[in-house]
Amino acid sequence: MAPTSARRRAPSANVVASVAAIAVGVVALASCGGSAPDVPVGPDGDVDAVLGLGREIWGARCAACHGTDGQGGRGKKLDDGQIFELHPEIETMMAVIANGKGRGMPAFGEVLSAEEIEGVSRYVRDVLN
Ligand code: HEC
Repeated sequence: MAPTSARRRAPSANVVASVAAIAVGVVALASCGGSAPDVPVGPDGDVDAVLGLGREIWGARCAACHGTDGQGGRGKKLDDGQIFELHPEIETMMAVIANGKGRGMPAFGEVLSAEEIEGVSRYVRDVLN
């Protein structure tokens, strides 16, 4: 009797261990400073794919100017909520990313797909702010 129930408990202990390992990994990533903040995991345990794509684009194309966390630098600060005043609707923000702005903000319409521009816009709005 006892060995059977012990065996039955084993998988759930493994699950607990891997969840704990993932949690430790997430904390380690978040605190390492060199990489863009992680996309939160939804209630179903999955990461929103478009947001995940947005995070990749952010790290590869935007963070160098705007800072890993959107804290600003050569590019405008994007983590202080101002983006919602500048662009209450995401569409106009996406248009700026596609067309560029002023002297410093490059146009990404030729190099990023519409989905990538949407992803990176949502990442700025939902994760960095
Ligand atoms: C070469 C540096 C540089 C890169 C790379 C860059 N930006 Fe910018 N960005 C700027 C500068 C400079 C401004 C301020 C432009 C202005 O107001 O004239 C800006 C402004 C913005 C704004 C504010 C737009 C507004 O309406 O005022 C957003 C949003 C933005 N960038 C998003 C992004 C995203 C997303 C990426 C990556 C796909 C990116 N930027 C890549 C330099 C950069």
